[in-house]
Amino acid sequence: LQAKALEDLRNVADEVALQAWRVAYLGRNAPLMQIFSRLGQLPKDVRPQVGQRANQVKQALEAAFEERQAALRAEALRRALESERLDVTLPGRRPELGGLHPTTRTLRRIVHIFAEMGFQVYRSREVESDAYNFELLNMPAHHPARDLWDTFYTTTPGVLLRTHTSPGQIHVMRERAPEPIRVILPGMCYRYEQISARSEIQFNQVEVLAVGHNITFSDLKGTLNTFARRLFGEQARTRLRPSYFPFTEPSAEMDVECFVCGGKGCTVCKGSGWLEILGCGMVHPTVLRNGGYDPEEFSGFAAGMGVERITMLLHRIEDIRYFWANDVRFLSQF
Ligand code: PHE
Repeated sequence: LQAKALEDLRNVADEVALQAWRVAYLGRNAPLMQIFSRLGQLPKDVRPQVGQRANQVKQALEAAFEERQAALRAEALRRALESERLDVTLPGRRPELGGLHPTTRTLRRIVHIFAEMGFQVYRSREVESDAYNFELLNMPAHHPARDLWDTFYTTTPGVLLRTHTSPGQIHVMRERAPEPIRVILPGMCYRYEQISARSEIQFNQVEVLAVGHNITFSDLKGTLNTFARRLFGEQARTRLRPSYFPFTEPSAEMDVECFVCGGKGCTVCKGSGWLEILGCGMVHPTVLRNGGYDPEEFSGFAAGMGVERITMLLHRIEDIRYFWANDVRFLSQF
């Protein structure tokens, strides 16, 4: 019996077969174990001898079992190590890090530059009233200048999505009057427009507003020129062109010399040599009054710039739709 059992054990190749072997030779119904339960039926004089011998066999089988089990486990471990081997000399995979959106990067630079000139950031709402977006900015109902902004209206009469950050001017003035003001107002604006390479229905602006005693057009020019040089580089050239906005008088637009062709004219500046970056002007007396400032005593300048627009110039991005497309091939370049 012992010889047969040990031979079987040698042919056991895995854990399952090993357990089957254990049941067959050491289990309750195994022939060897039957001997123990039937010891009592044997004649008294042979009992010790048979018992002793059966015990020896049992111990031998148990020892062999342990040994075989240990050997099988060692073999399984060795095979696992072999097949799941790691090559620790392979170069690691770099984890993908997220990054800031190009608009956010430009916004942060703009905020930083104006902060150095003493401007605070003022947050203003995106859902506005007709009064703040138009009327208080010197555009009564039916004023033709309202057509400059294609507007998203809500189903609530008089409530709309702001078309520019200028309504924030009134909010700051009404909160601060009669204290002097030096703030910028960054934020999202909305326009009901056909989406194209040059216009989106949603974009960021940064409004600039300074109100105080003796603020002149020279202050506007100096501040905006300084800003443009810090953003585009010391060599950047700028110019102001007369323009029209109902809430500023006089009004102007600022261009920077095209840095692609150096002012000679190319596809980026459409042959003009200049790129428009913002609208600006001296705050209209009516707007000052609506904000709670006496135009006899106070004056101010304001400007509004498109952040995506400026980002496009800085990075030569040719289509504004990339900003909302969420294409990682675009986003990961910044
Ligand atoms: N709000 C104007 C626009 O959206 C820009 C602007 C702001 C012009 C402040 C003058 C003064 O086009």
